Amino acid sequence: MKELLSIENLHLNFRTFWGTAYVLNGVNLKIYENEIVGLVGETGCGKSVTSMSILKLLPSNAELSGKIIFEGQNLLELSEKEMKKIRGKKISMIFQDPMSSLNPLFKIKTQMVDIIKLHHNIHKDEALKKAMELLKAVNLPDPHRILRSYPHELSGGMRQRIMIAMALSFEPSLLIADEPTTALDVTIQKQILDLILDLKKEYHFSVLLITHDLGVVAQTCDRVGVMYAGNIVEVADVNELFENPYHPYTKGLLLAIPDPRYKKPLKPLRGNVPSLFKPPHGCRFHPRCELAMDICRREKPQLIEYSKNHAVACHLFRRGDKK
Ligand SMILES: Nc1ncnc2c1ncn2[C@@H]1O[C@H](COP(=O)(O)OP(=O)(O)OP(=O)(O)O)[C@@H](O)[C@H]1O
Ligand code: SF4
Ligand SMILES: [Mg+2]
Repeated sequence: MKELLSIENLHLNFRTFWGTAYVLNGVNLKIYENEIVGLVGETGCGKSVTSMSILKLLPSNAELSGKIIFEGQNLLELSEKEMKKIRGKKISMIFQDPMSSLNPLFKIKTQMVDIIKLHHNIHKDEALKKAMELLKAVNLPDPHRILRSYPHELSGGMRQRIMIAMALSFEPSLLIADEPTTALDVTIQKQILDLILDLKKEYHFSVLLITHDLGVVAQTCDRVGVMYAGNIVEVADVNELFENPYHPYTKGLLLAIPDPRYKKPLKPLRGNVPSLFKPPHGCRFHPRCELAMDICRREKPQLIEYSKNHAVACHLFRRGDKK
């Protein structure tokens, strides 16, 4: 597997009126070519800001350090001008709410054709042809009608397909999808995920799929990273993670999923997500962990590859114990 993107020891703080929020606490994650990596974790754990860090789309109160290596260069060292050649082109992004990315005042035709024309430096007719092709690629029936419509005249699923079509217009090598199906009903959710899988097979891009839904991960991803309070605490192939989770937090997450096959009681994780203004020392999960030891309160566990293709950041798993 060839590496496409490598996030290394990424720290992100936000300076706010109330003090500093220590949001990302040394995130490490690799994305290889032609794979779908899921990023899961509870609300506020830092999934979206990780993706915004990749694109360097952070507000001015953000302090970012570490490395994000993409095609051999550290994105954090690139100028805004250089980032513009990557953002939306080599790395594209789709969001939960496509309405936030589409302009309600313009027809789809204007929005798609303008972007394609501008970035590909081609004539309007050619751009229109490309827009039609892309709408067909995302299985939108009657592309003529779609192009003549305003965003509010289309359903949520159709708008998300349009965003995917626009994201693909530059043939990106990485598509970041931040909760792309959360706002959609279950049937449409499945269709959009299947579409992403089909397009990935055809266009050979990688996907970073951000979701809090482990069902979506199981259906869609090749590998998955579990995030807790600004750290990746476990990374593994998707089946391995579901069958053989190591990290106490991952185990808790899996136990908290309702399983229709058994009438087992749900076991919600005890305690609350910590404040990122005053995060716990050592392992940020220790106040909620039933297995916490003294070392957990003092030292941050590093993410180590404990068994093949399965990494974990927990003091219960020491380097060299197994492989
Ligand atoms: N501009 C900002 N200023 C201060 N704090 C911020 C800012 N943006 C995000 N945060 C904080 O960073 C943390 C991570 O936010 P993020 O949006 O990445 O969470 P998430 O994992 O995507 O959650 P969700 O599942 O709800 O989308 C949160 O505690 C959030 O309050
Ligand atoms: S490092 Fe310690 S506190 Fe953290 S998850 Fe492992 S056992 Fe629990
Ligand atoms: Mg988010």
